[in-house]
Amino acid sequence: MITVRSCAGLALGAVGALAMSHAAAARPPSQAMRGTLYAPARAFVQKNCAACHSQGGTNGQHDRAYRIMRLDTYADWLASTKIILAVVDTRHLDGKVMPPPKATAQPSDAERLRIVEWLERGSPNTADGK
Ligand code: HEC
Repeated sequence: MITVRSCAGLALGAVGALAMSHAAAARPPSQAMRGTLYAPARAFVQKNCAACHSQGGTNGQHDRAYRIMRLDTYADWLASTKIILAVVDTRHLDGKVMPPPKATAQPSDAERLRIVEWLERGSPNTADGK
């Protein structure tokens, strides 16, 4: 079993390397939203925002995005909840949508809704988000 799995891993690695020049440009840093106990929010930001809004992100837009808003820690998130809610909730049609439509990683509607609900409750820093 272990052999089969590592072979599959190598094959995937080779395919990944072919697509690498593009993917590398958008690589998120290893950690975003430090101190956030609600894991779905950490995962959401790590996947969808960190390449541009967290320290060490490698997206081409990182420097500009990071200057405007950073999401390194829970305190960063809390300081910007209103503006984040406006860009994550696609029912608010008055502002920008984040991530930008051209970004590689895009949250599903269900993922957006889960974060919007947490934001609307004031983003409590608890494991269950309540
Ligand atoms: C591909 C890079 C990229 C990704 C990914 C990204 N952003 Fe942004 N973001 C930017 C840039 C660049 C700006 C600066 C404003 C602009 O150019 O529109 C910005 C601005 C913002 C602002 C300020 C908006 C305003 O109108 O002033 C917020 C809030 C924001 N982003 C939240 C997020 C959230 C939350 C995520 C993840 C769901 C995210 N962004 C993902 C690039 C990104």
